[in-house]
Amino acid sequence: MAGTVKHSHLKSSWRCPSNIALVKYWGKRDFQKPMNPSLSFVLQNAYTETSVELHKDGDQKVEFYFEGVESAFGERIEQFLDYISVRLNWVHKYNFRIHSRNSFPHSAGIASSASSFGALALCLTELDFSWSGKPVESPEFWQMASEIARMGSGSACRSVYPGFSIWGKTQLFESCSDDFAVPILGGINPVFYGLQDAILMVDAGTKEVSSSVGHRMMDKHVYQHSRIAQAHENINALYLALLTGNQKKFVEVVENEALSLHAMMMTSNPSFILLKPNSLELIQRIRRFREKSGIPVCFTIDAGPNIHMLYFQENELDVKAFIERELLVFCENGKWIDDRIGKGPEVKSLPQHPPHEGAK
Ligand code: DP6
Repeated sequence: MAGTVKHSHLKSSWRCPSNIALVKYWGKRDFQKPMNPSLSFVLQNAYTETSVELHKDGDQKVEFYFEGVESAFGERIEQFLDYISVRLNWVHKYNFRIHSRNSFPHSAGIASSASSFGALALCLTELDFSWSGKPVESPEFWQMASEIARMGSGSACRSVYPGFSIWGKTQLFESCSDDFAVPILGGINPVFYGLQDAILMVDAGTKEVSSSVGHRMMDKHVYQHSRIAQAHENINALYLALLTGNQKKFVEVVENEALSLHAMMMTSNPSFILLKPNSLELIQRIRRFREKSGIPVCFTIDAGPNIHMLYFQENELDVKAFIERELLVFCENGKWIDDRIGKGPEVKSLPQHPPHEGAK
């Protein structure tokens, strides 16, 4: 395509949310393909805004500015551009000036790779589609953005849709794929569009073990086959719970997935434990509150110590009082983030930060 199409549109800006998995992606095969299917929803308040500008000045392939300051993340992006050049052959013809910012603090313990690669993939896909005259924001557009995002970070492929999405082949839909995520478009019981996520910050420090290292531990894991089978069973059960509005089943599956993810880490070789004493304290208190009050709250956990407490809009007042009363004392500096299910990415016009002094 490059060379035959006039590249007049050289800039694109998108906002893309982070997402939280309910059925967890853990373990890879081939290039950035998942060992098992996963299901997640996007957040509303935790997002990345990115603008990509293409140019031919100078010889620096990628300049990456995070909140106005040139950052070493540019090196990871260069590698990513190499991978995606298989799909977008024009990337080698330009230099990239990229500006990015997150809505959440860097140390918040929210995985930023999903929203970062999601936003970057949307910018690149928009440039590609607008040059080739293909309709932007068509189903093909979102699918390609999801596939490109996946090449940067697996979980990022689930960030480009509103609400819930699934990544990886399942028995649920023929359209499910290991190459890109698909949105769950209809049929979900409205109660789940009122999902709230209280992110309880146990430790905002950097992770002791990166996700990439963790995924690799599944290659020879003694429980690999049972974990794959369990994820399939859980995704089937969760999808049915989402359709039927079965909050009890939802709670059961979501907690089982979170603890299974950490069980895989604890039983891998070498083994690692990312949960902290306060993570366990929060887990126990959430369970006790649910038993006593009958309110359907539960927790999920990513590859870190922070607890995402999920609950429903109709219980907001009771749950927020519970957070204040019992949970904040177990959070680092009493920190938590009030988030909820989101509406997905949007096109953004990003004001440019002036390059940081001393930056090239
Ligand atoms: C525990 O998507 O961060 O959050 O593909 O290596 O970038 P890479 O891994 P990443 O893994 C996320 C794992 C998880 C579960 C999930 O989001 O499904």
